[in-house]
Amino acid sequence: MCGIVGYVGRAQGSPDGAQPHGHSALDVLLEGLRRLEYRGYDSAGVAVLTDNGVESRKKAGKLSNLEAELKEHPLPESMTGIGHTRWATHGGPTDRNAHPHVVAGGSLAVIHNGIIENFAEHKAQLIADGVEFLSETDTEVAAALLAKVYETEAKGDLTKALQLTSQRLEGAFTLLAIHKDHPGVVVASRRNSPLVIGLGEGENFLGSDVSGFIDFTKRAVELEQDQVVTITPESFEITDFAGNAAEGKEFTVSWDAAAAEKDGFPSFMEKEIHDQPEAVLQTLLGRSDIEGRLTLDEMRIDPEELKKIDKIIVLACGTSAYAGHVAKYAIETWCRIPTEVELAHEFRYREPIITPTTLVVSLSQSGETMDTLMAVRYAKEQGARTMAICNTNGSTIPRESDAVLYTHAGPEIAVASTKAFLAQIVAAYLLGLYLAQLRGNKFQGEIKDILADLGKIPAKIQQILDGDSAIKELARSMKDAESVLFLGRHVGFPVALEGALKLKEIAYIHAEGFAAGELKHGPIALIEEGQPVFVVVPSPRGRDSLHSKVVSNIQEIRARGARTFVIAEEGDEAVKAYAEQVFSIPETQPLLAPLLAIVPLQIFAAELAGAKGYDVDQPRNLAKSVTVE
Ligand code: F6R
Repeated sequence: MCGIVGYVGRAQGSPDGAQPHGHSALDVLLEGLRRLEYRGYDSAGVAVLTDNGVESRKKAGKLSNLEAELKEHPLPESMTGIGHTRWATHGGPTDRNAHPHVVAGGSLAVIHNGIIENFAEHKAQLIADGVEFLSETDTEVAAALLAKVYETEAKGDLTKALQLTSQRLEGAFTLLAIHKDHPGVVVASRRNSPLVIGLGEGENFLGSDVSGFIDFTKRAVELEQDQVVTITPESFEITDFAGNAAEGKEFTVSWDAAAAEKDGFPSFMEKEIHDQPEAVLQTLLGRSDIEGRLTLDEMRIDPEELKKIDKIIVLACGTSAYAGHVAKYAIETWCRIPTEVELAHEFRYREPIITPTTLVVSLSQSGETMDTLMAVRYAKEQGARTMAICNTNGSTIPRESDAVLYTHAGPEIAVASTKAFLAQIVAAYLLGLYLAQLRGNKFQGEIKDILADLGKIPAKIQQILDGDSAIKELARSMKDAESVLFLGRHVGFPVALEGALKLKEIAYIHAEGFAAGELKHGPIALIEEGQPVFVVVPSPRGRDSLHSKVVSNIQEIRARGARTFVIAEEGDEAVKAYAEQVFSIPETQPLLAPLLAIVPLQIFAAELAGAKGYDVDQPRNLAKSVTVE
């Protein structure tokens, strides 16, 4: 879950007499780390090659601490370097445990993302060889092993040394290394952890994802599982761990650098909340043919096979799992296929019933969540067909799945997911409608009508965003609240869960989401004078009984002293008498309402966390991409 960046440029006085390229390694590394900081911010560090060998600076805490350190102790100019921003796994977030780890008397620097599972056995052997370790990290063990292999079996061949070392490591790792005797070279390897190459003119890059070099190039190459790459200013060479040459697949990054900026909002999260109309629109774009029939281009599963699917299992974690819960209602309604939603980390530890006619759909913004990846691998082993709904092109989960449906929400930088949640629901709805079309569960006209209503969602989200002052004011007034409850029913239930999660993770307020019908079975005991409760009310135009039951729930909690804040459809008069405040959302089909109802709750959480003075984008203890189990 760390962020990794590597750079090589053409040095002044290169043997071929070529002009130096314009970037200093340090500038590229710091820019890359700034963009990758969402992956972890426990410490940051860089190492560059200079005439004196490897020189490194590293500091616990955010990137700004490293920048201050570099001001105080500057590094000499260099055209070759590596940089790292850390989410601590082995060893606490200290200066000493920060990467890079420089070993072999200052000759070799290594950075790492992931967890090396067999580090203890290597460490014991290296200690027996006389190696002294300075940190508590598994990374330093990998670095020491690389140094030993470099000197012995690889006889000074850095690429070969990394191939041999990678063969001996188990677990998840992206490793990058530079060596004093190899100016203009960065070597890297990956297993179960991401790495992308960026291609420039007279310079090349490495990044955990493309945002690590997006300011400099949009040409990129994906690295496959168990590969090693060696970059120089003019070339990149890919091999497997045994040293066999491999081809890389080049692609052009469609995101631009501006998309990764805050656009004037105080936080990425607020920007991303405002990106939601566009995220929904982009995810819907280009999905149907001229006759209005859905065509999912990246669906690589034979339609005949899809017709036979008799069970869907949705796998995901956190917010993505809540998107899955919303999708379940729609898929079952539209396709009549039994659909289960399961937390990915629970899935493989029971004995799930999977057959060749089970479709396993994973939802993951990052495409790198280790719990979800492992569950997908397990489902594949058991014979299921797998499909990924994912926001990150070229990431591991879609690469390892039989089919993929990309959400086109653009990069999501804030740790708390917002626009990816909406885009995931939209993509899962497209899947549901596609299956309904294929299997004839719905008439073409009905599918067209739902698609048309989905097409109106972006403008309706915009309407909520344009009228956000009341919910923001409420959020600021509640900054000292100790607990907030969220109630919902039917598709409003996962919305309540997601509203509570947003508040927990960025405002550190105790928050719980409940199914409104469950209230009388226990949670109503929590209600006391002044307890704030948000209630997501279903449309009065939907099933009548559902609406009136939720209105009764509001009355019940109000009678016990709760402060009731209600998210309800425009024109819903019935709720007004029982609500301290009503936040209206535009009319839409009941199954599409979560795409609107969640927006005020996202705004509430972001505004409240901001009012408390918290870092809205990088909440404590969390990281954007959870690449460990
Ligand atoms: C919460 C949040 C997390 C993620 C979860 C899965 O705001 O962002 O709960 O949804 O860690 O991440 P992905 O979707 O990348 O697999």
